[in-house]
Amino acid sequence: MAKKAKITILAIETSCDETTAAIIKGPRSINKTNIATPKIINNIVYSQLKLHKKTKGIVPEVASRAHVEKIITVVDKALDGIKGNLKEVDLIAVTSGPGLIGSLLVGVDTAKALSYIYQVPIIPINHLEAHIYANFVREIKNKKSKIKNIFPSIVLIVSGGHTQLILMRGHGDYKVLGSTIDDAAGEAFDKVASILGLSYPGGPAIAAAAAKSPTTNYQLPITLPRPMIDSDNLDFSFSGLKTAVLYAVKELTADNHLKITKLPNYKIAAVAAEFQQAVVDVLIAKTVKATRKYRVRTVMIGGGVASNQLLRQEMKKRISPRELSNSLFLVPDPSLCTDNAVAVGICAYYKYHLQPETINDFKKINIDPEMTL
Ligand code: KG4
Ligand code: ZN
Repeated sequence: MAKKAKITILAIETSCDETTAAIIKGPRSINKTNIATPKIINNIVYSQLKLHKKTKGIVPEVASRAHVEKIITVVDKALDGIKGNLKEVDLIAVTSGPGLIGSLLVGVDTAKALSYIYQVPIIPINHLEAHIYANFVREIKNKKSKIKNIFPSIVLIVSGGHTQLILMRGHGDYKVLGSTIDDAAGEAFDKVASILGLSYPGGPAIAAAAAKSPTTNYQLPITLPRPMIDSDNLDFSFSGLKTAVLYAVKELTADNHLKITKLPNYKIAAVAAEFQQAVVDVLIAKTVKATRKYRVRTVMIGGGVASNQLLRQEMKKRISPRELSNSLFLVPDPSLCTDNAVAVGICAYYKYHLQPETINDFKKINIDPEMTL
């Protein structure tokens, strides 16, 4: 039988708290220097946020149970995009790490079962790599023309579990330049939101609170630190910033012996704004430093914190061909910065073409909760 002109990928992602599946389709034969962007046929995301709001954070057991309850429905809905015909799927892509053990197992075992029944190979995907490949979902375009050379690129991954600066020399070719030495940026947003009595997840809650700050005319009497902003390496630290927020809040409530949760809204807004600015300042300073040092063509960001509007706007201002060693800033749509299977599928599509050795039999696929790039 003649091979189909297009390859259909079923992608599954359950590494943390989103149960997601997607179908993507792209040309089977390609020009290796100019890979066409595959088409997203379907993208289904079931978010567990409501569940985790109750506990103001993820309880791993609760997350994995919710994945088990939803995974078949989510995959089934994604398959609607190809009329429910699993036989049309040529390849299954699944996140195999890093992430929560119980959550990863649900996606990987579902992928394995489907692979066994339908005799379809699997490409295991590193969650961090998927965050990077969210940048490749749309055809990467410059205003005037399509960018011919993306690489070398500096990539900033900022999620709930990771904060890393990476030099990407080509597809699948990474060098980690710096990482957080304690909390990840997203983790800091979540913890500070909790200190301020805001909801989970902390990132969007802090951004929303901070947006109210300019309207209150209240000036915060303190400046929060920008940890490691001037250090001569490309590492990050956010744990001290979180503690500084805790002390600041204690000071702001000390006068009248109010409880921390009783801090008035205008003060919460001011602390949120200053905290958000501090994180953004550090992330941008380090990214600019790496961009200067490695004289890259592009800068990309990925991970949940990359959906932060202040970070996106300020990064765009600071990284432009005119401002900085001819480098261009690329950023995925905010909805593709948080966990999603589309990015997993796109990453697998590039691997299918450029690293076919990663295509494997289901018996050889295992989870690795501590997987690195
Ligand atoms: O990538 P992601 O969805 O999951 C992980 O791989 O961790 O990232 C989740 C993190 C959470 O810590 C959340 O608070 C943060 O991303 N986040 C944001 C925003 N939206 C999500 N942080 C700052 N601003 C946002 N708008
Ligand atoms: Zn993630």
